[in-house]
Amino acid sequence: MALKNINPSGTAAWHNLREHFEEMQYASMQEMFAADKGRAEKFHIRWNDFLVDYSKNIITEETVKLLLSLAEETGLKQAMEGYFGGEAINRTENRAVLHTALRAPANADIKVDGQNVMPEVFSVKNKIKQFCDEVISGSRRGYTDKPFTDVVNIGIGGSDLGPNMVVEALKFYKNHLNVRFISNVDGDHVMESLKGLDPETTLFVVASKTFTTQETLSNAETVRAWFLQSAKQEDVARHFVAVSTNIGKVTEFGIAEDNIFPMWDWVGGRFSLWSAVGLSIALAVGFDNFDKLLKGAHDMDEHFRTAPFDKNIPVVLALLSIWYNNFFGAESEALIPYTQYLQKLAPYLQQGIMESNGKSVGRDGYPVNYQTGTIIWGEPGTNSQHAFFQLIHQGTKLIPTDFIGFVQPLHSNKGHHDKLMSNFFAQTEALLNGKTEAQVKAEFEKQGITGKKADYLLPFKVFRGNKPTNTLLIKKLTPGTLGSLIALYEHKIFVQGVIWNIFSYDQWGVELGKQLANSILDEINSGTVKEHDSSTAFLLKNFLDN
Ligand code: F6P
Repeated sequence: MALKNINPSGTAAWHNLREHFEEMQYASMQEMFAADKGRAEKFHIRWNDFLVDYSKNIITEETVKLLLSLAEETGLKQAMEGYFGGEAINRTENRAVLHTALRAPANADIKVDGQNVMPEVFSVKNKIKQFCDEVISGSRRGYTDKPFTDVVNIGIGGSDLGPNMVVEALKFYKNHLNVRFISNVDGDHVMESLKGLDPETTLFVVASKTFTTQETLSNAETVRAWFLQSAKQEDVARHFVAVSTNIGKVTEFGIAEDNIFPMWDWVGGRFSLWSAVGLSIALAVGFDNFDKLLKGAHDMDEHFRTAPFDKNIPVVLALLSIWYNNFFGAESEALIPYTQYLQKLAPYLQQGIMESNGKSVGRDGYPVNYQTGTIIWGEPGTNSQHAFFQLIHQGTKLIPTDFIGFVQPLHSNKGHHDKLMSNFFAQTEALLNGKTEAQVKAEFEKQGITGKKADYLLPFKVFRGNKPTNTLLIKKLTPGTLGSLIALYEHKIFVQGVIWNIFSYDQWGVELGKQLANSILDEINSGTVKEHDSSTAFLLKNFLDN
């Protein structure tokens, strides 16, 4: 059964939400909090180690009711069955979307084309475990019989961002292996990344689902040439492994079949960190921690699959995002983790969210008549407070923001953690309440600012507040809670794609640039500029003339 084709803007719920918005656009959260002391009690979800408080949103119980009916009317329940059940919901590529199978238990029965995929999933997991145990313990060694000290992941997009983000996020749990990432085809990036590495003790993981990606293949070739300056051709087998669906291309590159970790076309690149693409994660933190990451994601899968929609974290967060995107006209969302460990979460989710839901054609093949994918951006707090928070507090744009914080720090540095978390709570409170004229005047009085100066400064110091935020307060950053957090956002992407009636799991929009880059590279190599618009031709000629 395919995903239904329902234009959300034609549903009764959408119509009702439009009408409801007419009054809600002027609603004041401050007033709603003042009128209802139990508001936080009403609008929060507690699940495992997560507390999600969504009371600081411009919503009433009626808003939530209408949003939930939008989910019902657009067939979310049935779509979820197709998603978890291995149906080819990625219609334009005729593929299932089953990253959830990668974290399901061994006894699960998840079928693709009538075949249970779990035995294969576990056979690759066992291969990952054995390989990582050997590298970490030092029983698998380099060509001069020295244990490995460094791992370099060569990949881009989903074959880089996920592992890169998780290795950074789980730094606290890391072993002795140093893990680096080479992604950009920028040769300067490659050469900088190789600096200080010893070829005798470095292991290279070439991760590419398709094994046709220009950046990854060029980088892998450059790295192999660098390796061969010290080692022999036959040593490549000890130092290079690959993760791919394209076994033929990998062997053509020179990597032995035994050194290939397979993956499947039902795993989308941007959802692949749970597959062997996560090899660098398992190497960095050990297989047990990698498995805990998968288990945490599976727990979130179960929550998403079984919790009623009004108590379902991914569903509620997705609906709130639709409320602002489609009714308030918000264009972007910010994501602010209050831990430096999650500094790569926003770039990682940029691919997940924007490559998935940056679509303008509906599932009926016609252009949509409403907004889809949100722009996502962010940086850890408190750094971001000193960078772009001014715009969120007093700018002209509405930017719904997710605040992610942890009750416990990882290093027992309570003094710092309390300061960090006081900022975390203070920001959402400030965004909610702002600062009234009366408050500013009272401050002026205390500071002795009076007369013309006070009158002049007053408007600049007033904050309107009423800025929506979600607060995700999580017990501790562990492999398990990280897995749950990532899976939460994956399911939020799914819910929004279903409701927006788009196909979230293809990415045709990135192809044109790749094609043009290939033909422009031929022109650069031959020194002849062919037919282009006048701007591109002018720029190319100038590039070639210098
Ligand atoms: O450029 C888009 C993309 O296809 C992503 O979806 C993918 O994660 C990335 O390129 C890398 O692809 P591959 O893993 O096949 O090298």
